[in-house]
Amino acid sequence: MQLTEQYKIIDFRECGDERGNLVVVEGHQDIPFDIQRIFYIYGSDATVVRGSHANLNSQFVLINVSGTSKVKVTNGTDTEIINLDRPRMGLFLDRMVWKEMYEFSADSVLLVLASEHYDEHEYVRDYNEYLTMMQDGVNE
Ligand code: TYD
Repeated sequence: MQLTEQYKIIDFRECGDERGNLVVVEGHQDIPFDIQRIFYIYGSDATVVRGSHANLNSQFVLINVSGTSKVKVTNGTDTEIINLDRPRMGLFLDRMVWKEMYEFSADSVLLVLASEHYDEHEYVRDYNEYLTMMQDGVNE
């Protein structure tokens, strides 16, 4: 499968008015799954690299609700870097995409919506193991 089919940038609806902004994210409408879990990452800085894993089952949507960060995604063949730089932008990541989040701004709050509950067993954290799995067609 092509990397371009494994991630997607989503522009959420914004209902802004003179009182400020309001961004709407609805499960199964704005994002392509039921939200089973949310977590958020803050207090990471420009020197930190997070993620560095792929997930056998989970799909994610990443949103920098405050500040900015970068996400490097790869399927072992192709690589893209996505700048998360506005609160109404979401990055959908499909199963088995290898991801690294880095260059967090000091005010970065990275919200993550996940399609599954946490299960450490579905994390692939060794990049060589990941490459072998991709070569063996886990992603087909
Ligand atoms: P980790 O997967 O390293 O975070 P990231 O990839 O986002 O940098 O997780 C850090 C710790 O938090 C690790 O001990 C597992 C735990 N954790 C949970 O218990 N539940 C969760 O939903 C997540 C994402 C992590």
